[in-house]
Amino acid sequence: MNYPRRVAIIGAGNVGNKLARLLLRADFIITGVSSRRLDSARNLANKIHAPIFTTRPEELIQESDILFLTTPDSQIESVSRQLAQCAPLQKERYVCHTSGLYTSDLLSAIKNRGAICFSFHPLMSIIQSESEEKDQPFFVALEGDETGIKCGKYIAKQIGATHFTIPSETKALYHAGAVIAANYLVTLFSTAVQVHEAAGIPAEKSERILMPLVLQTVQNIREKGVRDGLTGPIKRGDAETIRAHLLSFEEKMPELIDFYKILGKQTLPLVPDFQSMLQTLFT
Ligand SMILES: NC(=O)c1ccc[n+]([C@@H]2O[C@H](COP(=O)([O-])OP(=O)(O)OC[C@H]3O[C@@H](n4cnc5c(N)ncnc54)[C@H](OP(=O)(O)O)[C@@H]3O)[C@@H](O)[C@H]2O)c1
Repeated sequence: MNYPRRVAIIGAGNVGNKLARLLLRADFIITGVSSRRLDSARNLANKIHAPIFTTRPEELIQESDILFLTTPDSQIESVSRQLAQCAPLQKERYVCHTSGLYTSDLLSAIKNRGAICFSFHPLMSIIQSESEEKDQPFFVALEGDETGIKCGKYIAKQIGATHFTIPSETKALYHAGAVIAANYLVTLFSTAVQVHEAAGIPAEKSERILMPLVLQTVQNIREKGVRDGLTGPIKRGDAETIRAHLLSFEEKMPELIDFYKILGKQTLPLVPDFQSMLQTLFT
């Protein structure tokens, strides 16, 4: 099936900007941009040469076949209601949002007016950057109406992403996994830097010296999988080293003892040979 290619972007933030650029590069026609602030809509519209910029998303319905709601999660439902206040849709319209947590149920108001709805979650960590964008492979999680998912698959393919579907019931858990992998990686890094600071290493230097270690670890996971990608004292069953770490935390950073133990406990299933021997250290 040939899907229509006229797309509107509602919400000119990080994801709106990124998707607009990807869609444009894949020869979609960006009909217009709507955002809460006219300046934001104008900026993005200028960058991608979209003819309409507005603060009223309903102005984009007639010109577009696919509407991407890239507002914050808290605004999706109200934008959907705003769109639904328009006249009944004359022809097929696809409406999707990009939230990782919420399902396409947030779009029920516009769905009740005849739109085909789905959620389209780019599994990426997106921040706006002025530097040249490199093409990184990425995945898109799809959920929603069967016909909507088909359209989502088509769009994902066109913009160079690999798609998969996620059941509505488990979408929150799926998103929690993504948050652990991406956001808590930042938390881990920032905590490691704090520990280094307590050891007298300045933050800026710590960030610099830890970076190759982190990148190497990610590479190891990629090449060998999580079990074989693990190195360090838990992997070696080295109880003495773990005791020494815990002792240093007691002396200098007692607030991190629970944090260290929880992560240690969570690592034990990866080392079945030492699991029972190390268990008591982390309780
Ligand atoms: N960032 C990520 O890594 C990422 C990845 C995957 C999915 N997501 C999801 O994508 C969505 C957008 O995230 P984001 O990071 O792009 O957020 P964001 O940078 O905060 O952008 C959202 C934009 O929506 C506009 N906006 C706010 N309220 C609005 C309203 N009522 N009507 C129209 N526009 C409105 C705001 O623009 P102005 O106020 O400037 O007009 C804001 O810049 C969220 O659902 C998020 O969960 C984010």
